[in-house]
Amino acid sequence: MKNIESKLVESRKYKPDDKFIASSNLSPTDLKKLNNLYKEDPDNFWSILGHKEIKWIKNFKSICTGDAPFYEWFRDGKLNVSENCIDRHINKNKNAIIHITEDNKKQIITYDNLYTLVNNFSYSLKNIGLKKGDRVIIYMPTIPESIIAMQSCARLGLIHSVVFAGFSSESLRNRINDCSAKVVITVDAFMRNGNIIQAKDIVDKAIEDENCPTIKKCIIYKNLGKKIDLKDNDLWWHEILPSESKIVDPEIMASEDPLFILYTSGSTGKPKGIVHSSAGYLLNCIITNKWVFDIKDDDIFWCTADIGWITGHSYVVYGPLATGSTILIYDGAPTFPKPDRFWDIIEKNNVSIFYTAPTAIRTLMKLGENLPDNYNLRSLRLLGTVGEPINPKAWIWYQVKIGNKKCPIVDTWWQTETGANIIAPIPGITHTTPGTCTKPLPGIEIGIVDEEGNDITEINQGGNLVIKNPWPSMLRGIWDDEERYIDTYWKKFNNRFYITGDTARKDENGNIWIMGRSDDVVNISGHRLGTMEIESAIVSHEYVAEAAVVSYKHEIKGEAIHAFVTLKNSFKNYNNTEFSIQLRDWVKEKIGSIAKPDRVSFSDSLPKTRSGKIMRRLLRNIARGEDISGDTSTLENENILVQLKNIL
Ligand code: PRX
Repeated sequence: MKNIESKLVESRKYKPDDKFIASSNLSPTDLKKLNNLYKEDPDNFWSILGHKEIKWIKNFKSICTGDAPFYEWFRDGKLNVSENCIDRHINKNKNAIIHITEDNKKQIITYDNLYTLVNNFSYSLKNIGLKKGDRVIIYMPTIPESIIAMQSCARLGLIHSVVFAGFSSESLRNRINDCSAKVVITVDAFMRNGNIIQAKDIVDKAIEDENCPTIKKCIIYKNLGKKIDLKDNDLWWHEILPSESKIVDPEIMASEDPLFILYTSGSTGKPKGIVHSSAGYLLNCIITNKWVFDIKDDDIFWCTADIGWITGHSYVVYGPLATGSTILIYDGAPTFPKPDRFWDIIEKNNVSIFYTAPTAIRTLMKLGENLPDNYNLRSLRLLGTVGEPINPKAWIWYQVKIGNKKCPIVDTWWQTETGANIIAPIPGITHTTPGTCTKPLPGIEIGIVDEEGNDITEINQGGNLVIKNPWPSMLRGIWDDEERYIDTYWKKFNNRFYITGDTARKDENGNIWIMGRSDDVVNISGHRLGTMEIESAIVSHEYVAEAAVVSYKHEIKGEAIHAFVTLKNSFKNYNNTEFSIQLRDWVKEKIGSIAKPDRVSFSDSLPKTRSGKIMRRLLRNIARGEDISGDTSTLENENILVQLKNIL
């Protein structure tokens, strides 16, 4: 770790605007009180917040019990997450969802409407025989019905697993089988970039030929009204709804009952089904919506994340609805029909809080640096970013062109596993610098440690980013794989702290700077992908003998994928240019478009140690145009480096 040196020097400071400070949810005194409360007695801190923010059916008796890595929160407490998100906000004539489609249709759903829609759909799910604890896959774009489906699952105690609708049928199949899901909920089709994506066909392909034996039914919401091939077990959403509105009592759930599983990539081939709890997850979603997003009754909160990712779960579906806020969802591409689409939506709908990924910011900046000038974006009062480090140039453009120099920017660091923001500015208080996610939130203790687990105290010296204390929305495990849970997140430092897999440094002001991953995971456009997963997809092609995947810096996506491939002898003379196109499509089919390598290079072999391990570190140097660093004495075939460098 000693050789992780920071090359980034950025010291511009930005203070919150006076007007923002005057009305912000947390004052410096509040923050101090929260931090002191936590320092004095962590259990009391979480107990106060738990009582204040959640509507309990039965009160909890303890706060945090158990030992690492198995903690339980709010034991004996009973609640229902959907009741917290919907029932508490009815009869107030408040808008819940503003939905904009790619072809520019707009629909507004109030909390009262949402209550009816969720109750009716819950009735349908119950009617087809689903019971508490059953797993339901949601393979849908970000439309009100996918939110209704998630909330209905929560109402009945069904464990949902949303699969991003850009994933291929094979990825979908693996996830269905991993959690033995009983039902898939999908749409006939949806629009993206003006094209029609036939989601139902992808689902059919995933479950065809008894490939998913646990699936009993597939429910299809008629989204575009496209023709589909209706199979025996298919049910139309509109046909299973009750003819008259029904009320379905929320299932009484224990605090620790799983709310959902969300798959994310790890450093081995198989995606991990991250399991989240009910009460603890909900609590961190609520408090971060209040503290970090400063959410208020009259805000219109637009988080651009798809519901298929954790950001869509915590900052579209659960957090903002639990706080009774109004969310905007846009079911389309940011650049369709033109790269000013986001700015147009913000202006027309008076969006006040806008949360997006650095990759989107960089894309929109590149395609139309001055396009925001044509719009009135004065409704905005807070901006956020998530998913990857944001480079200062993009940060400043965001601050000036979108935020009109008056909106604080919250650069939020967190993960699928953490459930909610962990390191982030408090917008009315924190003085920020472009590129740092600043400091941990109240109740969170983070550390930067060396390979032995000792704290690194030197300023700006990089190390492993760990979380030293349990927190309510921490993952409860990996579905059906306890060993992997322990191995991935706890084992290296003997259960002493949760290992994030990121490396980071702390500057002289105590601000945290994320430096990248320490494992074989790449971060493409804010989406985490395991290099092993992509490698196994490539190697499954019949022409391929071996493959190694590394990342290199990319102006827009943050990181991009470079695949080094060797072909089987009988295919060695194949046209490489043609084959690299085929191979990219192959990866798209196996995993999804986001995993398509940007560069593919072919060579006679790959650099390996004498024991046969591919030396990805050297490939990384080559892909990134760096000098070969470190020891190469264990390299079995040194000549290959020359060949690889010449190919590039
Ligand atoms: O490497 C960190 C990066 O994204 C990883 C988590 O990915 P995922 O579980 O897909 O969740 C993304 C949305 C929460 C982290 O381990 N990451 C996330 N936020 C930031 C970040 N890197 C730098 N700055 C951030 N604000």
